[in-house]
Amino acid sequence: MKARIVAIRYEARDILSFVLAPLDVDEFPRVDPGSHVDVHPTGALMRSYSLSNGEGDAGLYRLTVQNDPKSRGGSVFMHQNLRAGQELEISAPRNNFKLAEDSPFTVFVAGGIGITPFIPMMTRLNALRRKWRLHYCVRTRDRAAFVKEIERLAAVGFGDVQFTFDGEPGGAPLDLEQVMATLPADAHIYCCGPMGMLQAYQRAAASLPSERVHFEYFNTDVKPASEGGFSVVLQKSGREIFVKSGETILKAVREAGVDVQSSCEEGVCGACETAVISGQPEHRDMILSERERAANQTMMICCSGCKTDRLVLDL
Ligand code: FES
Repeated sequence: MKARIVAIRYEARDILSFVLAPLDVDEFPRVDPGSHVDVHPTGALMRSYSLSNGEGDAGLYRLTVQNDPKSRGGSVFMHQNLRAGQELEISAPRNNFKLAEDSPFTVFVAGGIGITPFIPMMTRLNALRRKWRLHYCVRTRDRAAFVKEIERLAAVGFGDVQFTFDGEPGGAPLDLEQVMATLPADAHIYCCGPMGMLQAYQRAAASLPSERVHFEYFNTDVKPASEGGFSVVLQKSGREIFVKSGETILKAVREAGVDVQSSCEEGVCGACETAVISGQPEHRDMILSERERAANQTMMICCSGCKTDRLVLDL
């Protein structure tokens, strides 16, 4: 979809929101809380950002981006080069982080810019009159985006917020064991933030039923499977290709001339998700749950490999 940047707003130190309006469609698809879009700030760059829409953003998409010079360069480009009035290409939204709207209580754990998917989720829970709690962890107060907006959401009467500023004098990291130990009965819990926080969260939540534990990574240190040594049959195109050592499935498929989507190429965005017809993938993504992996119906071909000699994919 084509979009125009209609506003750029300062949210906190190093954090800007880009507000987009549709250009070639009358309306953007409705925002499903937890969804993200791929953004193409230039022909070569593509990055995924959560939709951070709040109550005032009806009909628009809001993307909130932290300028991180240690990342792969997308956020720095967006901060330095994008201006109000410019056009951008974005994908339709995709949701790997869905809100369980019927949960009796919802707990959110946000680390820094990981707050973004939770703004539309809290807005939605308020509309449904369902209870929620937010633990918002940021190093220092000046880096906390959306503080006033979150306080307004909590003031509606269904949510409460606990801020943790662990980089300030006397600050300490959020005690995730304590969060899990005091989780209300049947609550669903969600975490989005830096990798270390997500790993600690998953350890702390290990004894909870997996269908109530949700998380979203922005990046990972897991190496994509590139050991190769197996064949991939592309069912729709009737081709069989051999994945050589040093190649991912995505690379081998592309080199065979088959057009497949991708974005992060490290197993966090879901753009390359492909249906599995037979064979057994070796999953290395950060999206599929244990249950989804066991169902053997889908895989992320940018990073996952294969445990069998042959894999048949719906491509
Ligand atoms: S391209 Fe993002 S999960 Fe594969």
